[in-house]
Amino acid sequence: GEIEKGGYEHFMQKEIMEQPTALEDAMRGRVLPDDNKIVLGGLHDVMDDLRDADRVIIAACGTSWHSALVGEYLIEHFARTPVEVEYASEFRYRNPILRDGDVVLVISQSGETADTLAAVREAQRQGVMCLGICNVVGSTIARETDAGVYLHAGPEIGVASTKAFTAQVIVLAMIALKMAEDRTLSHAEFADAVHALASIPDKVRTTLEMDGQIEKMANIYRYSSNFLYLGRGFNFPVALEGALKLKEISYIHAEGYPAAEMKHGPIALIDRFMPVVFIALKDSTYDKVVSNIEEVAARDGSVIAITDEGNGELDELCEYVLRIPQTQEFLSPLLAVVPLQLLSYHIAVMRGCDVDQPRNLAKSVTVE
Ligand code: G6P
Repeated sequence: GEIEKGGYEHFMQKEIMEQPTALEDAMRGRVLPDDNKIVLGGLHDVMDDLRDADRVIIAACGTSWHSALVGEYLIEHFARTPVEVEYASEFRYRNPILRDGDVVLVISQSGETADTLAAVREAQRQGVMCLGICNVVGSTIARETDAGVYLHAGPEIGVASTKAFTAQVIVLAMIALKMAEDRTLSHAEFADAVHALASIPDKVRTTLEMDGQIEKMANIYRYSSNFLYLGRGFNFPVALEGALKLKEISYIHAEGYPAAEMKHGPIALIDRFMPVVFIALKDSTYDKVVSNIEEVAARDGSVIAITDEGNGELDELCEYVLRIPQTQEFLSPLLAVVPLQLLSYHIAVMRGCDVDQPRNLAKSVTVE
């Protein structure tokens, strides 16, 4: 009822807004910047095996699959361990090839998704270690995996996942850094990353302050019937997640793409009725993404860009520019996804959609 919503109109809104505390809770006792340490009790006994793994296979569904993709970038970047990301539903039916030295990692907010659970059982059938990242304590996946990490993000009620996504990403960042500690990362690099992690909740707080600005923008874009979301690198999965959020709750057709793939298809769709949301942060891919923005602007597409605080370079090219705080590149998905969540939320509310219970969707899919 109204009390659980804590004064918010919808659970989704509450869950978007409580991300700073959800992330603090996910890091409590785990990210220790004063000691330059990351402690993951649930993985303590298996961390050596994980660090020695030849390959990590991450299986998940929906939004959790998007966080898995960020996890691929994180683990490969920091630990230099090869990662494959699988839709749990495809993995389980492919008679997947697992070998000694593989570690399977499943991600599930609910811990009850049937396909993800089947991936756990397949790993175990083949005698491969299976780790889990779940939010719901005592859930089936949490119980059946060999070890794992809880999100501690608090209950997520809105069908569209928001705080679980950011909590999953932060847990994956902790895991990637832990795998890399004293191995692929110097002491100083590790300490820098730990401090950057600890500073994220406040930066998410700052990012949430653009809620009013995004609500105004939503009023302009509420009548669009298609959206394209583009990002690269660590923020390619954020483009997918932005598109998923919009289609789930507002029923507007949206696609997410790696920005550079635009020229292999989606560019054909661009006209003045096509809003294109770019994640264009000043990172290693910035210049390339700016050329993509120019290509869209030249075809009259309406560009919304998410960029860094203080960056005015995109103002001329774009209809709207949203500025988020700077952080280390690997943590930018945690900030970049927030305006996309808010945009979907406000558009859906303005279209009169049932934000917390969108049609045809379930919070946890316990059937195949
Ligand atoms: C459903 C929900 C999504 C969620 C997905 C995976 O489709 O509507 O929000 O991302 O299941 O759920 P899980 O609990 O396994 O993360």
